Amino acid sequence: MITACSTPNIALIKYWGNRNNELRLPAADSLSMTLSEPCVEITVTESDRFSVSSNNKEMKDKDIERFQKTVDLIKQYHPKVQNTISIEIDSQIPPGIGLASSAAVFSALAKAIAALADCGLNDEQISQMARLGSGSAARSIVGGFVALENTEDSAIARQIAPQDHWELFDIVIAPNTDHKKVGSTEGHASAWTSPHYKKRITDITERRQQECIDAIANKDFEKLMAVTEEDCLDMHHCMQTQDPPLHYLSDETYRIVDELKTLRKTQHLPLLYTMDAGPTVHVICEAEALETVRAYANVQKGCKVFEASVGKGAHLV
Ligand code: PMV
Repeated sequence: MITACSTPNIALIKYWGNRNNELRLPAADSLSMTLSEPCVEITVTESDRFSVSSNNKEMKDKDIERFQKTVDLIKQYHPKVQNTISIEIDSQIPPGIGLASSAAVFSALAKAIAALADCGLNDEQISQMARLGSGSAARSIVGGFVALENTEDSAIARQIAPQDHWELFDIVIAPNTDHKKVGSTEGHASAWTSPHYKKRITDITERRQQECIDAIANKDFEKLMAVTEEDCLDMHHCMQTQDPPLHYLSDETYRIVDELKTLRKTQHLPLLYTMDAGPTVHVICEAEALETVRAYANVQKGCKVFEASVGKGAHLV
């Protein structure tokens, strides 16, 4: 029996769309900051038959199929990983805070499966295993600031700066939503139908990913802000113009973003915003802006707030 713990990450250059949907091979590179919390623990045990259970979620057939498919793909990818397993999920991710659990879950799962197989897999190989369950999960294998980089026939996570390189925080502001959103697996598959998508891939490949790496290396917040917000808005522009269109941002999102822009302008604060596949606003800031952002977040009516710093990535417990 092996238990691994992992956490979500927040993308600064977003992964959206695949060149191979089955293997979740991204169309372009992406880059994220691994978060310090909330933690998901996954325990895998050798068993006679495959099973999945969770402490805080009723596992539907569709969910179990996704785990089964991921484990099957991992076995195809790595012939030395062949055990039949039972999977127990113990998630501390509070529901409704807009932190997708799939990155934490599938990175912890890959880490645990690799340890159970005990055949000397390294983090690069484990990140490839995690990617088969959720593209963004590949990045949570590693701590600090992490690029997911395309190779000819794969995509591999690489740490570009360690956890203690830059003290940044992510204040997560989640407006209430009754809206059932289209999951990212479905959304990725039709990304290519947006007329803006090709340009998005070119911009990331030729410029944006490197600009983000440079901003992090030099701890240049202004530059990080410019490239992160540009990429976030570009991804949502693509989502909104793909077929069928995906409108993840709400009026509340736009209101919060406008107010954050005013706040940073009037008080000269190092803060930036970014949103994934939902209305939740992630406010990334330096220590200097933390108290102000926290105070702002906590008075937003009907919003759930969560706070994290830079994390260490998936590890065994
Ligand atoms: O890993 P997935 O399939 O949940 O896709 C993640 C997509 C975004 O959150 C929108 C962007 C990202 O890079 O995390």
